[in-house]
Amino acid sequence: MKHPDELKREAAAVEDAIIQRYRARTAGSRARHQEALRYLPGGDTRVATFYAPYPSYMAAGAGAWLTDCDGNRYLDMLNNYTSLAHGHAQPAIVEEAAEQLTRGTVFGAAAAEQVALAKLLTARVPGIDLLRFTNSGSESTMMMMRAARAYRGRDIIVKLEGGYHGSHDFVEVSVSPEVSAAAALPQARLEGRGLPAAVLNAVMVAPFNDLAAMEALLQRHHKRIAGIIIEPMPNAGGLLPPAPGYLQGLRALADAYDVLLLFDEVVTLRLAEGGYQEIAGLKPDLTALGKIIGGGFPVAAFGGRADIMSAFDPQGADFLFHSGTFNGNSIGMRAGLTALQRLDAAAIARINRLGERFGAAVNAMFAALGIRAQCLGYGSLQQIHWTDGELLTLRDAARANQDIGKLRELLHLELMNRGVYTVNRGLFCLSTPMQAAELDFALAALAAALERLRPYIRAVAPRLLAE
Ligand SMILES: Cc1ncc(COP(=O)(O)O)c(C=O)c1O
Repeated sequence: MKHPDELKREAAAVEDAIIQRYRARTAGSRARHQEALRYLPGGDTRVATFYAPYPSYMAAGAGAWLTDCDGNRYLDMLNNYTSLAHGHAQPAIVEEAAEQLTRGTVFGAAAAEQVALAKLLTARVPGIDLLRFTNSGSESTMMMMRAARAYRGRDIIVKLEGGYHGSHDFVEVSVSPEVSAAAALPQARLEGRGLPAAVLNAVMVAPFNDLAAMEALLQRHHKRIAGIIIEPMPNAGGLLPPAPGYLQGLRALADAYDVLLLFDEVVTLRLAEGGYQEIAGLKPDLTALGKIIGGGFPVAAFGGRADIMSAFDPQGADFLFHSGTFNGNSIGMRAGLTALQRLDAAAIARINRLGERFGAAVNAMFAALGIRAQCLGYGSLQQIHWTDGELLTLRDAARANQDIGKLRELLHLELMNRGVYTVNRGLFCLSTPMQAAELDFALAALAAALERLRPYIRAVAPRLLAE
């Protein structure tokens, strides 16, 4: 047994070496970050792309690979947070977008390209009869929730504790689970300053994978509840799979208590042509889409049952207002259509198989290295969790990140040092240009990074080592 001081010294040496190596490889990024600090708060314009000591500035992408401004190459296993199903600069998408560029980007008018993408999406997604385009997933969940309130004539939407649906006020509630809370039922909490307290009059929260808790909440409050919004497999929550029967149970509860079921499939659409609702074999009343549907451009959508969505018909009496300067812009519509045509059932099945193989290999790696961690997910979306225990709720998943020091941050930087790009939370997202060779590259980098981190884990999170 080593003395605790010696273990601490070893951990500090590993941490220092990883950060120094990162700094040594990224001098150009460091300089750009210094300049950015003068114009952008913290040098940042999207919290999800910031990390310490400073983020790498990416200069170009081609297929599955990224190159930063210092010339380092990375296998891109983030894919702009799951939105680039075909990786970067897919030739057919580039051609479509470029051709449209020569004719104008957006006309402040109706355009046939909108109809073409809407036709494909309504054909694919079981729960969508009619849809409208937006520019972001946040707008889509906001409008979908408004549609539900209008249809039911009630104010409250129930969301999951730990559920992420974008950055508008009515979903910035209990996004970070209360890891220390002893109470069985989570309480709705504003996620940060600047959110009006009035939001809490219109949002309630429930735990994931817990039908009994949802039923108890509906029993008490259903007369004030318009709908339940849920990501069928919560992405930011850690890609925990829904327990068998959970989603079907939610559908039945929504019907029994006369509230609407809203699926946020902004991320999960990539898992099947019809999204997770196709996998689960059910139809939500409303669905939000985003990420992959713009082929790399900012396109999102919300849609659902015709009787609910027809409220947006501008010729209808008392219609619901929905507008947006770049809604349905032709570049995004054409890029999205091309991307989705190439992401057919066969292409999805192939990357899902590769993803499952990757997840199984990561789990085998943890077992072989004696590290008590696990990889969870479905198909082309996989995520590491720092526990080998069962994860049922998003609170469980958040708890696994406690008492591990900077393990997630250091693994992220060390993976970058070894040519793999992802994020602290250990998300691995596949794209169609990937083959088995790319995933073997990522697995080798992960194994080497974990070995490098072993002294750190031993000192800071010994519970993770089966030694
Ligand atoms: C499930 C889910 N819903 C909504 C959003 C918000 O989308 P956007 O960032 O385009 O506003 C995200 C973004 O990551 C998401 O993961």
